[in-house]
Amino acid sequence: MAAWREGTREDPKPCREQDRGKFEVIHRDGRARLGRLHTDHGILETPALLPVINPNIRTIEPREMWDRYGIGALITNSYIIWKHEELKNKAQKDGVHELIDYPGVIMTDSGTFQAYVYGDVEVGVEEIVEFQRSIGVDIATMLDVFSRPDMTELEVESCVDETLARAQISVDTSQDTMLNGPIQGGLFKELREKSASEMGKFDFSVHPIGGIVPVMEQHRYKEYAKIMLSSLPKLPPNRPVHMFGCGHPMLFPMSIALGADLFDSAAYALFARDGRLLTPWGTEKIANLVDWPVTTPSIAHLTPEEVREMDGKERTKLLSKYNLEVTLSELARCKQAVRDGTIWRMVERRSHQHPALREAFLWLITNPSLGNISKMFKEEMILDEKLASQEIGSQKGAWESSWDWIVESQTTPRKGGESWGGKDTLARPHIIAARHMMFTRWHSLAPRGSGSSDVLILHGRSGPWRERCDNLVTRIIHHAPGLEVMILTPIGLMPYSLEDVNPFTHIVGPEWMWRSRPDLSMIREDLEKFSMSERRIITLDLQGDSLVDRAFAKLVEMGVVEQGSVEKPIESKDFEASELQLRRRKAADKFALFFNIQSELSHEMTKQTEFVINRQGRIKNVLSSSEKHLASFRLGDGGLSLNNDGAIELHSHRRREIPNNFSETDIFGYCGEGLAFVVVDDDAEPFIRQGRNVFHGFVTACDPWLRPNEACLIVNGKGELLGHGVSQCTSDELATFQKGVAIKTRDGIKIE
Ligand code: GUN
Repeated sequence: MAAWREGTREDPKPCREQDRGKFEVIHRDGRARLGRLHTDHGILETPALLPVINPNIRTIEPREMWDRYGIGALITNSYIIWKHEELKNKAQKDGVHELIDYPGVIMTDSGTFQAYVYGDVEVGVEEIVEFQRSIGVDIATMLDVFSRPDMTELEVESCVDETLARAQISVDTSQDTMLNGPIQGGLFKELREKSASEMGKFDFSVHPIGGIVPVMEQHRYKEYAKIMLSSLPKLPPNRPVHMFGCGHPMLFPMSIALGADLFDSAAYALFARDGRLLTPWGTEKIANLVDWPVTTPSIAHLTPEEVREMDGKERTKLLSKYNLEVTLSELARCKQAVRDGTIWRMVERRSHQHPALREAFLWLITNPSLGNISKMFKEEMILDEKLASQEIGSQKGAWESSWDWIVESQTTPRKGGESWGGKDTLARPHIIAARHMMFTRWHSLAPRGSGSSDVLILHGRSGPWRERCDNLVTRIIHHAPGLEVMILTPIGLMPYSLEDVNPFTHIVGPEWMWRSRPDLSMIREDLEKFSMSERRIITLDLQGDSLVDRAFAKLVEMGVVEQGSVEKPIESKDFEASELQLRRRKAADKFALFFNIQSELSHEMTKQTEFVINRQGRIKNVLSSSEKHLASFRLGDGGLSLNNDGAIELHSHRRREIPNNFSETDIFGYCGEGLAFVVVDDDAEPFIRQGRNVFHGFVTACDPWLRPNEACLIVNGKGELLGHGVSQCTSDELATFQKGVAIKTRDGIKIE
């Protein structure tokens, strides 16, 4: 019996007939996704690594890949099989799964790469697709034309055009076999965009990003990121994206965060052959090692020296296993990070492990659309800025929409602490999304009155602030109702009324981060974004005792309130009235932020609200004047959960027409328009009313500002409210996906 306990893993079950070729997403973290691709040889979980198998040289047996390593898919080359008479005959007789003795998903490549290496291949466009179909591969590849990074724009354009010209005939020839439609375009942004949008129109199942092997070999990771950001936003989101020839674990976190689903690796075996070890931070030579950079089961009982002394074949096999184990464990880490919502943090950390990765990362986060954050990285980027002006895609604003594509897919608020990682923290896309949401949806609506030309900025301490400051703010509402109170956090300003909203409240880091002197220029920039730039800034340090006395002494000194009025004790009924006002303000501002309604309306809606308060004194439920439960404050992330009565109320305020199609995603463009509508077809109506989830394929239209993890209203074609839930996707995704949960329904509206 083989050491890996052959046969211990059952062969895969074919997917349901009607699901073949469909891709569904079960978890996401921005553009990173955990998915399932349905095939006749099992449901492939993504992100996945497809080891490259050379049918002539099998370093690790494919069966062992399945049994021992749990590998669900591999890739081999149909051109090599086609060229070798014996392999060809066996493949045609028994099928490719039998040929290489592997029960899982088999993808084949077409010979394009051989054409790139050797200049040409003698197989025809239809012939190679027909051959792949005839040997029973799960995912075939058309014969695309490889675009090299050193080609001129004209040369690359002809690769893109020729690939496009071959697309339809390849799709027709593949019949029921899933087909890869590779994206070419060299280093040219517009050509990558063209390739992606045009190839996306054909009925391909997967889109590999092609022509990137030399880019990776030359460590041009910034270009690699640019290629991804030019291509992926233009592809149909319901198709998995494969990074052709990318198998170095160092590139996994960034690639996954930018939307990659599949990788293939010959590196594990090629590198092993010349004694090189793959690690998440680069490549190391076994020749120099006394200890292993990472220990894995296959080498745990051996030292590098012992392995060096092995005979060539045995050593290569062992190091291939080692490389595969290291690669798979980095992939597993990435998958867990997607589940945990920390993939970008992982990219950030990994960026420090290789200068070229750091360069790529800095390029990503110094996108001009980041404004002041971008400026913070200027020193690190000085050299690059000069070079950047000569680069392709360097025109002003060229990458804004690509960066928006990342930011608009972020979920915010989230649970859990936001671990501080220096100034990179500010550029995390979900933090940018959270700040953007606050800047655009929250408006200062403090009543007119004393203080309305000022803003009081609390600083110097981490949260929670309510226990320490609610008393003070209640008094401010009484004495200076026009004074807006804000909190300075390490990731920027936030209104006091939103004090428990993640991530602002949950920055985990050293205390000095909170204690450092307020940076007035940053404060001004943020105030400008809140449309409060004309206000006079008054700062108040939360460190130290007698907060209320210190605060009012300062407000008197600044002429915001009068000494006489402050000296008089507040009557308890007045204090209670101010306390209720503060709670209503908190509710109103959360309604505006999380339900996307205009501040005036949210204030109107919450004018009469009452509250259920929990034992810690925090708001739990928001009730209407007739005691209807509108929404609940979420203690974990500071968010707001909608209830049926709240959904009915919000639905009644809809003024805009009911959507009747899927217009292009535009999350930032519809501020104050309320919760997005999702229109389901008539068949789904009874299920939604019972509170069942909305599945892809049952939605006929939605608003363009639908956003992952945000509440939405589920309606029928007449616009009648059926239920409400939490979206799992954007409108572009909703328009294309055919499988999986689209909206997690919180509750249905029953017919009385
Ligand atoms: N393998 C590595 N790069 C490529 C590519 O661009 N096209 C194809 N078909 N295979 C590849």
